[in-house]
Amino acid sequence: MKVTIDGPAGVGKTSVGRQVARRFSLLFIQSGQLYRALAYGRINGLQLDSLSLEPGDKTDPELLMDGEKLKEELTTEEIGEKASKLAKEEEIRELVNEIIIDTAADRDVLVEGRDIGTAVLTNAEVKIYLTASAEERARRRKKQMNTDRSLGEIEAGIKKRDKRDQTRELAPLKPADDSVIIDTSSLSEREVVDRISKIITKRKTREK
Ligand code: DC
Repeated sequence: MKVTIDGPAGVGKTSVGRQVARRFSLLFIQSGQLYRALAYGRINGLQLDSLSLEPGDKTDPELLMDGEKLKEELTTEEIGEKASKLAKEEEIRELVNEIIIDTAADRDVLVEGRDIGTAVLTNAEVKIYLTASAEERARRRKKQMNTDRSLGEIEAGIKKRDKRDQTRELAPLKPADDSVIIDTSSLSEREVVDRISKIITKRKTREK
């Protein structure tokens, strides 16, 4: 089974996605991390086409570039911003999409990102699109990041990134026609995980 979860920055795709993936034993792929790894590689002069995803740990697969393991260094806002800019480039998107498509070819996966349901795994059995107000996403980010930056500053950064991700020419952020849209603004993480799980279970039952 293939599941996609798309949506804007800070909407909870990662924490929700990881829990759902664990529940259904799906390999969890964070496409944003691949864009972040390429942004990090570009800044540090690494060989971008050496990027690989090692699916050893199902809920937290490793990313390698030039033999270097990348993880914590990818989580900064600066890298997120750089990744969003880099994501406009066609060769960059092709590099990421190829890794995802190859990895997903013979596996059950849950892939989260911006364009997975619309442009990468268009045949996925379950497509989810998560949304929440920019204000609520900024509040969650602040709590999660333990930062000195003000809520207003974080919200402005999120809005800027949303705009870039939604208006780019190639595979812009938008819900797939056949996706289920869930507004998470007033839902707990648990409630979102449960809703998505119900959708997957229903789909699995239909397949039997
Ligand atoms: O999900 P994230 O914040 O880690 O993603 C970082 C950036 O990568 C995001 O702002 C835009 C880009 N991205 C993309 O263009 N397409 C995806 N499927 C995932 C991320």
